[in-house]
Amino acid sequence: MTTLVEKAPAKINLQLSVGPRRADGYHELASVMQTVDVCDTLTVTAHTGGGMSLTCNHPDLSPGEDNLVCRAAVLFFQCTGVPMDGVTIHLHKVIPMPAGLGGGSADAAAALRALRRLYAPALPDSELETMAAALGSDVPFCVRGGTALAAGRGEKLSPLPPLPQCWAVLVKPHEAYSTAAMYRRIDDTACYDPLDAAPMVSALTAGDLPGVCAAMTNTFEKVLPPDAATAALCRRLKEQGAMGAMLSGSGSAVFGLFASREGAAQGAAAMQTEQTISFFGRVM
Ligand code: C5P
Repeated sequence: MTTLVEKAPAKINLQLSVGPRRADGYHELASVMQTVDVCDTLTVTAHTGGGMSLTCNHPDLSPGEDNLVCRAAVLFFQCTGVPMDGVTIHLHKVIPMPAGLGGGSADAAAALRALRRLYAPALPDSELETMAAALGSDVPFCVRGGTALAAGRGEKLSPLPPLPQCWAVLVKPHEAYSTAAMYRRIDDTACYDPLDAAPMVSALTAGDLPGVCAAMTNTFEKVLPPDAATAALCRRLKEQGAMGAMLSGSGSAVFGLFASREGAAQGAAAMQTEQTISFFGRVM
């Protein structure tokens, strides 16, 4: 019996420009994605016999076959041809969802990485990322992590220079948005954005954190419900000292970037209310 632990870090989008809807129903993106050290944890045990089972500390999350972690494991064994003798996965959720923080994608990616470590250490990254793309548009980035430009529907990745050292405060209001519904709102209003990440890429290349904050943009901010709490949360993050603050992914979480750990810790504490849950972590 072998047990290993795999971290599943959250992601934020420093830029998320949504282009028109494609024939396959997905939207062409220019997205700059960034890993943040706020993590779910997978504990994966390989044993002999007993099939596959998933447990989870989160009462609302189905541990059944529809869970993205289970789907990742089934796909891993199918694609590699490794016989699925017995594997137990415990998922400890910290990242709120649905929030636009990539929680489910991060868990699926961590499952793929853990299973590779256990059963197929020679499997190349490219094959793991192909499996990841079949599970969801954000999963390939979550397999890789760091700072990357994502194109296509989000699965075509190019590494970018790392974001200068800073800390992200993540704030999730109680309200929740469906990703598919948020894409439909963009279609209904045809408020597509140009797929140009040049200003963000230049700021990253120059190691210019204020420049990164100035280049932050997210198409989904244009289609937020009129009563959304998110704009006020971004304003409050800036009052707390965030250099920039924006919606993450299709929401409803927002993030703020802070230059110091102390500032982020204080910001996260101030943003924690009865209506919100907040976290902070270093960008990685
Ligand atoms: O790929 P994933 O399953 O995470 O996507 C969830 C939903 O988000 C899709 O069903 C689709 O409606 C929408 N989506 C999109 N364009 C993208 C990525 C996702 O329309 N580039």
